[in-house]
Amino acid sequence: MPGLTIGDTLPNIEAESTHGKIKLHDYIGDSWAIVFSHPGDFTPVCTTELGKMAEYAMQFQERGVKLVGLSCDDVQSHLEYIKDIEAFSTCGRKVEFPILADPTREIIKQLNMVDPDMKDSSGNPIPSRALHIVGPDKKVKLSFLYPATTGRNMDEVLRVLESMQMASKEKIATPANWKPGEPVVISPSVSQEEAKKMFPQGYKTMDLPSKKEYLRFTTV
Ligand code: BEZ
Repeated sequence: MPGLTIGDTLPNIEAESTHGKIKLHDYIGDSWAIVFSHPGDFTPVCTTELGKMAEYAMQFQERGVKLVGLSCDDVQSHLEYIKDIEAFSTCGRKVEFPILADPTREIIKQLNMVDPDMKDSSGNPIPSRALHIVGPDKKVKLSFLYPATTGRNMDEVLRVLESMQMASKEKIATPANWKPGEPVVISPSVSQEEAKKMFPQGYKTMDLPSKKEYLRFTTV
């Protein structure tokens, strides 16, 4: 059964967490959110990832983003595990975001976070390294699905977030390998007349063999 994907509304899940009972929509409010799973507490790659999330949490907060972690371990396990994450994290940041508990595996199924190749020692499914970026309208804007063996790159999470937040405000998109501060492209839906008004700073149209003037770089 395919689960949550881009364009879907994040289910308003209610679950126990390290911050008490949480109802996702209420917790997110009018913010953006990053809902991310890890395969299990007290595992090596997860410890490095959650430490990095704690390190980057301030940068997400500055961009109006709330973080929500998730694994199938229970809240008591998460609370014990957080001590390891904080001890490992070299920047000394605390894990201030909630981590949801999903011992029945209902949430990971609803959120399309199950790793089909991984089982715990009792044969139960466990989450992949799934990550959904959700907009203030509670719709999924982007999803990553990584296997247990590959830790995520939080610079990439921040980069795609910046791209999407910018594209939600202006009629632009970000090209391959774009980094914040670099030129962006004007959305193909914008006519040349509109582009002149929308981008008074100017833009450069690439001269391509097709002579179609669709690749237009500008700065924001
Ligand atoms: C880890 O976090 O290191 C991990 C978890 C599950 C399987 C493989 C690696």
